[in-house]
This record gives sequence, structure tokens and C-alpha cells, in this order.
Amino acid sequence: MSAEVLAQIAKEVAVCTKCELCKGRTKAVPGEGSANATVMFIGEAPGYHEDQQGRPFIGPSGQLLDRMFKALKMTRQDVYIGNVVKCRPPQNRDPKPEEIEACKPYLDRQIAAINPRVIVTLGRFSMARWWPGGRISQLHGQAKTEGGRIIMPMFHPAAALRDQERTYQMFREDAFTIPALIEKSEEIARTELWGFVPAEPEIIEPEKTIPVEKVKVTPAKAEKPVRVKAAAVAPPEIKVAEEMAEYQPTPVMEETAPVLAVTTEEVPEIVQVENKEENAVKAARPRKKKEDVKSIAEQLTMF
Ligand code: URA
Ligand code: SF4
Repeated sequence: MSAEVLAQIAKEVAVCTKCELCKGRTKAVPGEGSANATVMFIGEAPGYHEDQQGRPFIGPSGQLLDRMFKALKMTRQDVYIGNVVKCRPPQNRDPKPEEIEACKPYLDRQIAAINPRVIVTLGRFSMARWWPGGRISQLHGQAKTEGGRIIMPMFHPAAALRDQERTYQMFREDAFTIPALIEKSEEIARTELWGFVPAEPEIIEPEKTIPVEKVKVTPAKAEKPVRVKAAAVAPPEIKVAEEMAEYQPTPVMEETAPVLAVTTEEVPEIVQVENKEENAVKAARPRKKKEDVKSIAEQLTMF
């Protein structure tokens, strides 16, 4: 269902003339990704490469996003990537308020169709929808919940690429919070679906015990003695005793007998052999891949 809605929106966007931006476009960029995406990324506007191909984030900013997806073990196919305006502004200028407003119904319909649990805004223009007048330098990385959905503002990847020293670091740190946001959103979804409220711990009273002196003891009835034919049951002790009498310990073969006495010269030799074996095992052990042992802090430099 949502896929058809998205296809319909894309069709409309391709021929849209609701704002000035239609004049300069080569191709409109409706957005792409999974119609059932858990996470939706919303950028600003198509740039040169996007305008040429009609696909979102395929230039340098897109390459940074791809590195981020890889580091987060996500793919473009898992998420949805859209923009606030679907046509490229001339010389990549900022989109004007009236252009954002004209294009808003498309984005509204995309969000409604995908119904993502997490929205990540990229840059101040997509952030403004949820934080009007907010400053990205103060708000980035701070997620909020709205209508059962988590929204997290991030810097625009182009800003991260422009300021590698500071913005890039913050961009990466914010990106690494995404998996936890997804997990949190799943928890919210479960709560809404099932009305799940964590149960109060149940208090179980200890069982009431009756004091011993109050318990009446009725003497058990004497049971009838059971008669057993003497021949039917062989007394086991006798059998075991017979077997024990027959038992002969197996003589220890000379080759397998433990060496109990060694000359002083032999000792270092034995020790040496053992060490050699140990070293051989160590050498044969495959080395751990570098990525496997990286700490979270180190991971931040991965994309
Ligand atoms: N920048 C954006 O905001 N969106 C794109 O699609 C590409 C670059
Ligand atoms: Fe239409 Fe949006 Fe393109 Fe403007 S930017 S022409 S509103 S699709």
C-alpha cells in the first residue's frame, strides 16, 4: 500500500509546478528507499548530482551518508531518504520559505505513508519543521518523541564535510545514537500496540505453617507383611563378593606407564617440548580483525 502511495507522490512531483524551483530542475527528486522503513532521513534540497539523476543524496553528502550507513550496519534499502524540497534551487541556494511551504504536502504524505518510527533530520531546514526557530548547534543529537515517533536532528552532511574538525565529529557522535533510538522506538511501538505496562512485582506471602504441636498424628496401620519366595531374589552381596574374588587388576603396559623417574638432564628437554607446542598453537591462532576489537570511541572515526 505505502509503496503505491510513494509511487503516486513521485509521479506528481515529477511534473509539479507549484513553486519557482520547477523552472530550473533537470529531474525532480522525490526520495527513495523502503516504503516500510523504520528510519527516515530528511535532507534539504537536491544538489547538482541529485538533479541530474533524480535520486537523493548521491553526491559527496550522499557518500558520507553511505559511509555512515555502513558503520551502523544499515543499507539505503532499509531506510527512506527524502528532502524538504524536491527540486534543486539555483546554485544550491537555500530553499525559500514559500518553496518549503509549497512542497510540504508531498513530504507530509511521504511521512504518513511510510510512518517511520524514527525521523532523522539532516540540516536546519528539515529540523525547522519540528523545532521552529531552534538552533541546530544547540539541538543536534537531542531526540524528542512526538506522536509515538522519535525525531532526532543532525547536522547536514555537507556541513560535516565543510568543517571536518568539529562538525564532522558531532555528526558522527549523533549518528551512533541511531541504533539506540531504533531500539527505543520499538519499545514505544510495543507499548502502543499492546497497551503493555510493566507489571508491578507480585508479592507472594509465605505459606502459613501449622505449629508442630498442633498437628495430630494418627498412627499408621500396620501393613501386611509381604512374603517373598526365597529362590526368586538372589542376595546381591554374595554376587558382588564373588566377582571381587575373581577380580584381577589389568597389568600396566610398559609403554603407557607414567614416567616416574627422570634424570636431571631430561627435565629441561621435556619443558622445552611443551613450550614449543604452546607456541605453535599460539602462532596458528588466527588474528582478530582490527574492526572486531575497536572500542566505541574508536568506532567514531570509522566514517
Ligand atoms: N543535500 C540534500 O539536502 N539533499 C540531497 O538530496 C542531496 C544533498
Ligand atoms: Fe513542486 Fe516541490 Fe518541486 Fe516546488 S520543489 S516544484 S513544490 S516538487
